[in-house]
Amino acid sequence: MSVHIIDHPLVLHKLSIMRNIDTPTSKFRQCLREISMLMGYEITRDFPLSYERIATPLQEMEAPKIAGKKVVIAPILRAGLGMVDGLLELIPSARVGHIGMYRDEKTCQPVFYYYKMPENKDRLVILADPMLATGGSACDAISRLKKDGFKHIRMMALVASPKGVQAVSDAHPDVDIYLASIDEGLNEHNYILPGLGDAGDRIFGTK
Ligand code: PRP
Ligand code: URA
Repeated sequence: MSVHIIDHPLVLHKLSIMRNIDTPTSKFRQCLREISMLMGYEITRDFPLSYERIATPLQEMEAPKIAGKKVVIAPILRAGLGMVDGLLELIPSARVGHIGMYRDEKTCQPVFYYYKMPENKDRLVILADPMLATGGSACDAISRLKKDGFKHIRMMALVASPKGVQAVSDAHPDVDIYLASIDEGLNEHNYILPGLGDAGDRIFGTK
């Protein structure tokens, strides 16, 4: 398992805008979409290439093309939805699955309510959720994907706690994690500090 921290200045700048309590919903969404696109760059970095003979207006050449890496973007609802459009701009042929789960407010345990993924289990799954707090939601979502037959899974989050990263790497050592930041820790309600607050509420303006 490897943890990739994508601390490109553009990503960190946009993440700071998202963290700011004064940032309005529209700007928050826009930054999340843009960061997802920038992170998508790194998550696809090792995609294999094949070569195809083409003609430019001047001569023929062996041109590199992405060699059949089929992708499913799988957002954890709700907040993961904010990462889908940015990734789709980079990988327009990707399929999109949906994993519905929320954290019970009292126990902080994940509760499943929806699951719909494409039938082809050979695809690479990019599991998307901006927040990796205790890691409970991500661990359960990955277990569900594996039970369904998916073997190639990467996790993409913006902000994580050290505990969340540890939980995923202990439970799923085969899953690489891509993050913009590992923050200080969790508060008594298992919110990430300093974090960015409740990602779902900030994306959808529900509080
Ligand atoms: C948030 C977040 C993750 C989860 C992270 O979702 O988007 O899915 O909490 O916490 P964990 O690592 O401790 O499991 P939330 O339960 O708030 O649902 P929502 O996006 O529908 O508001
Ligand atoms: N879910 C969020 O949206 N934010 C946190 O800090 C933790 C869980």
